[in-house]
Amino acid sequence: MALPLQSRIALVTGGGRGIGRATALALAEAGATVAVLARSVDEVERTVDELRAAGHRAAGASGDVADAAALADALHRLTGQLGNIEVLVNNAGVSWPVGPTATIDPEQFAQAVAVNLVGPLRCIRHVLPGMLEAGWGRIVNVTTGAANPPGMPRAAAYSASKAGLNQLTVNLAAELAGTGVTVTAVDPGPVDTAMQDYMRDQPAEVIGDRVHGMFQRFHAEGRLNHPTQPANLITALAAGEVTGEIVAVGSDLAAELVNTSS
Ligand SMILES: NC(=O)c1ccc[n+]([C@@H]2O[C@H](COP(=O)([O-])OP(=O)(O)OC[C@H]3O[C@@H](n4cnc5c(N)ncnc54)[C@H](OP(=O)(O)O)[C@@H]3O)[C@@H](O)[C@H]2O)c1
Repeated sequence: MALPLQSRIALVTGGGRGIGRATALALAEAGATVAVLARSVDEVERTVDELRAAGHRAAGASGDVADAAALADALHRLTGQLGNIEVLVNNAGVSWPVGPTATIDPEQFAQAVAVNLVGPLRCIRHVLPGMLEAGWGRIVNVTTGAANPPGMPRAAAYSASKAGLNQLTVNLAAELAGTGVTVTAVDPGPVDTAMQDYMRDQPAEVIGDRVHGMFQRFHAEGRLNHPTQPANLITALAAGEVTGEIVAVGSDLAAELVNTSS
């Protein structure tokens, strides 16, 4: 039986570790050729080595999604090696800066928006013409529950940039209806990754008692998702037809999508 994403070319930003690494592996298991992009050269190489060791075709490039020139260069190198990107997973993200909103340095806030919101738009602009020409494409953005009211106090840059990413998702999905290109987002829930470690390490004085307690409890009560959970949902969305939806790991829709695609 043909694998759902057989021979499709996928790009996973932030594919060096965490959810992105798991997604790269899951997409490859579903038949895709995978390009991995992140800033840390060693982590990109490790994921690419893992993919190749498992017999998959893969390539990697180091690049910063917030740096227009470096990103364009990395994307050109990857498409030169593998071909046009047909599945884009905008996963690279940062949860800093944290602290009382009025004390946040606006430059750092802008940098977080550049990574979490403008970076995905830059990647979309790079891949969309090829997807439209082919009449098939999948764009999956990785968001967070913190993008929904009441947000995450003392992480305003994160909440606001990801709320923007949600709106980018639904706007673009509506614009692209009928083109064969779907646009969705995945809310992974709390996942056991370096980002979760970083948030758990923030002192209550910085992140506030409520959010500090929440991150401690996720860990202490064993409530962290494994990176394969969002990875499997992202892969199901890439293999399916759903568009315009923001799907949370653990939701009924997520279960239906993952069960149907596996
Ligand atoms: N873990 C959670 O609980 C959780 C919950 C909800 C949503 N999410 C979302 O899931 C996504 C993945 O997070 P994660 O938990 O897997 O975090 P992670 O382990 O910190 O991984 C983040 C990945 O993004 C890359 N990245 C960060 N800034 C980048 C930049 N400017 N340019 C290119 N790559 C960049 C990182 O590599 P480099 O640093 O080497 O560039 C890394 O590969 C994020 O969008 C995050 O907001 C995570």
